[in-house]
Amino acid sequence: MMKAVTVKNLDSLTRERVIELLYETRLIIIENENIVPEKELVQFYHHLGDPVSFDNEYMSDEYANEWSKGYRELIPVRNQELSGYGPPGLFSGGEDGKVPWHLESQNRDTHDDLACFAMRSLPDTGGDTYFMDQKIMYDNLIKLFPELEEHEVDWSNRFAAEEPENDLPYNPWTKWDEKCIKGGDGWNFMRMKDIDGKYLIDKEVKSKPLVTKNTITGQRGLMFPCQTVFNLKPKSDFLFQVLEKECEKEEYQYCHKWKSGDILINDIQHSLHKREPYTGDRLMYRSSIYMPENPNDPRKQFLH
Ligand SMILES: [Fe+2]
Repeated sequence: MMKAVTVKNLDSLTRERVIELLYETRLIIIENENIVPEKELVQFYHHLGDPVSFDNEYMSDEYANEWSKGYRELIPVRNQELSGYGPPGLFSGGEDGKVPWHLESQNRDTHDDLACFAMRSLPDTGGDTYFMDQKIMYDNLIKLFPELEEHEVDWSNRFAAEEPENDLPYNPWTKWDEKCIKGGDGWNFMRMKDIDGKYLIDKEVKSKPLVTKNTITGQRGLMFPCQTVFNLKPKSDFLFQVLEKECEKEEYQYCHKWKSGDILINDIQHSLHKREPYTGDRLMYRSSIYMPENPNDPRKQFLH
């Protein structure tokens, strides 16, 4: 099973300790006796680094005020049907209610370091989140397949259904349709911005190395979302065939069964996550954090 480290209560954890733990795990679980109030949660995220603040092009004032006390560092992720946000709303899952294996910055070369998840109210049933450790996977495979180190993932197929002449409402290879911008409740992942205020969708690259260096620890690991990439791979690609089998193994996976008040700090570079379907009005806050150690912080590009 993938190693996760559990800590009791948020106030026992410091930024220094988080960095230490990132050398040994991709997932820190903080169990809290009481639900940490929004203000303290956001203060803790600012203690770790700079959380991304999601503006009102991404979520409306009404939504943020009602569901995250106006703290824009916290994205209130709720049941798609009950919350009223629909496609193309991020985090809502597919028709089967599942969110498949992914990491949000899968095909960008600048990205946040940590994704944090804070559970506020549990669903009636379901909603387990799985994690996969792709640093340990790298450690296990690199001696056998040193060619992994040089492998590039071809992302030019990412939106396979989206060709310049397609009639979908968004098309990152050309332009998206302004009419699609506002989803049900003001949600739209195409309007999600990075910490420098640029649209994430404009930062997607067409090719990216399979192996990257962790921006905090410098450790190497695999950075690819298996299910997305396996849909893109040329069938003849031997390394992806190896990886596809490897991703099935339980030794890299951890299933988190949520308790109310849990806060998860996840290395968003060398691990993946997926979510099972659930019923009921679950409320979870999802946040993105840049740590000052990150040399690829897009705000630093003019400094050197
Ligand atoms: Fe995610």
